[in-house]
Amino acid sequence: MVHRSKITTLTEFIIQRQSEYPHAKGALTRLLNDIATAAKIVNREINAAGLVDILGTIGKENIQGETQKKLDVFANEMFITALKGGGECCAIASEENEKVVSFSNEFSELGKYVVAMDPLDGSSNIEANVSIGTIFSIYRRVTEAGGGTQQDLLQPGVNLAAAGYIIYGSSTMLVYSTGKGVNGFTLDPSVGIFCLSHPDMRFPEPANIYSINEGNYIHFPEGVKQYIKYCQENDPETFRPYTSRYIGSLVADFHRNLIKGGIFLYPGTTKNPNGKLRLLYECNPIAYIAEQAGGKASNGFKRILNIDPETLHQRSPFYTGPKWMVDKVEELLQQNSE
Ligand code: AHG
Ligand code: MN
Ligand code: MN
Repeated sequence: MVHRSKITTLTEFIIQRQSEYPHAKGALTRLLNDIATAAKIVNREINAAGLVDILGTIGKENIQGETQKKLDVFANEMFITALKGGGECCAIASEENEKVVSFSNEFSELGKYVVAMDPLDGSSNIEANVSIGTIFSIYRRVTEAGGGTQQDLLQPGVNLAAAGYIIYGSSTMLVYSTGKGVNGFTLDPSVGIFCLSHPDMRFPEPANIYSINEGNYIHFPEGVKQYIKYCQENDPETFRPYTSRYIGSLVADFHRNLIKGGIFLYPGTTKNPNGKLRLLYECNPIAYIAEQAGGKASNGFKRILNIDPETLHQRSPFYTGPKWMVDKVEELLQQNSE
């Protein structure tokens, strides 16, 4: 007889976990469920994209000056609808919206949480059938009442109540943390349920992957150039030379590094000193997951989660992975800035 262990669904898991927070009233549980529901719908659209000709741009540019893809817009609307209807969230900040979207209808007004999100990450990869994702950050609101405001969203990552991402890959996974480790759930598409598949995720040791867009090499700071050289040197004792892997979707690159062991780097450059990635809804949530998985996330000089955000869409250089790998980049960056 084949022995099967019991399947734990995402819903069961978050309800079980709620009991670890004695004062919890289930609002965060419901909010995470709302995100999971929207993710399933986005997943369905992504899978059907080639069939229904939803691919391609709609011609409008988002506030970063990038052309929006149809699926970016769809995913954004889907998450906003789910969060607004769920009633636990009083405002969101999204890559696709210049300003905070504040919910103030009779249901959502009482929401205690705000969400910052990148509804579709890696969207330039969609037509190549490469993995893409959704990234989310959840904070407790700091204002007292009414619709949430920018003040609720401009909080440092250390204040996060939860964060996570969904990866739409060869399978679809939801990975999240509420500050007690990281757990991953794989979507069973036949029944539409996320099942616990990766309990207590940690960066593995040893790790030997580095992920960076080396095409920008000439514009990198000296410390990063030296780190790339370091990765390529021959030293079997430290598992070098490392392997280079770069997809161009933050979620997919980070997820692979979390599973297989590696560092992700998106440095500032001479042209863009703060790099490309956005602090609120790309760096912070991924940094939170990285730390909860035993790793580290830095802008090269400072812990990402300690940065006080000033604007919704601000960018930051980003280095994340196993602690000792990030320590090495920091060392080289700091040496070269003196
Ligand atoms: P988005 O699709 O949300 O705009 O994000 C794209 C980001 C991120 O996913 C990835 O790490 C990075 O862009 C890749 O940038 P380069 O093409 O400059 O390497
Ligand atoms: Mn992104
Ligand atoms: Mn995006």
